[in-house]
Amino acid sequence: MDRSDSTAVVIRRLEKADSNEAGKFSAKLLKWMWSKYEKGSYPKEASDFDVWHWSPAKLRARFDDPDFFGFLAEADGKLCGLVLANIYGKSGYAFINWIAVDPEHQHEGIGIKLMVATQEHLKKAKCHKIGLYTLPTLVPAVRLYMKFGLLPEAFLRQQWWGSDFLLMSKWIGKYKKH
Ligand SMILES: CC(C)(COP(=O)(O)OP(=O)(O)OC[C@H]1O[C@@H](n2cnc3c(N)ncnc32)[C@H](O)[C@@H]1OP(=O)(O)O)[C@@H](O)C(=O)NCCC(=O)NCCS
Repeated sequence: MDRSDSTAVVIRRLEKADSNEAGKFSAKLLKWMWSKYEKGSYPKEASDFDVWHWSPAKLRARFDDPDFFGFLAEADGKLCGLVLANIYGKSGYAFINWIAVDPEHQHEGIGIKLMVATQEHLKKAKCHKIGLYTLPTLVPAVRLYMKFGLLPEAFLRQQWWGSDFLLMSKWIGKYKKH
């Protein structure tokens, strides 16, 4: 889709009441991602685990943790993008657990907007470092992360269901005890 065709997109904080919609969106995107990019490099059972891990019930339960947060992207009031993350107490370290944009809205800059919203939130929370895991086969994700300034920090051989992962990191400040 061309830049000029894109509908106005709103980015807002994920609320507990969004858990059902966000869980269903995650399941749809995880299945899409597996058939398009992961088949052959990521076992189906690992993907099925991820679907369970980001299910509506598990998402609802995550709101018990004050360090859990997320942002949604909506186009015409419809969920079209999602990012979920965690801050580890007062350590200054945060981890992005899951990001996805609906295939109909990819290449519109929504992925970057979600990363920027996450980073702004983390700077306010005085975090100095963001990390995430990804698979080398998820090429659009790796490109997005590199554009955003995340660097490959480690190659994690046979990390998860025998699959190789990348640990990517971005330093957004200096560590300060708080
Ligand atoms: C990775 C993912 C979230 C990226 O989302 P996205 O919204 O398409 O990302 P962006 O639009 O911000 O940027 C992606 C590309 O679109 C380009 N772009 C941004 N705005 C654009 C616009 N308005 N018009 C055309 N292209 C645009 C960017 O320059 C970038 O291009 P490049 O990859 O060729 O360098 C998406 O591909 C996705 O959901 N993938 C499946 C799930 C996944 O892999 N998640 C990560 C698990 S670790």
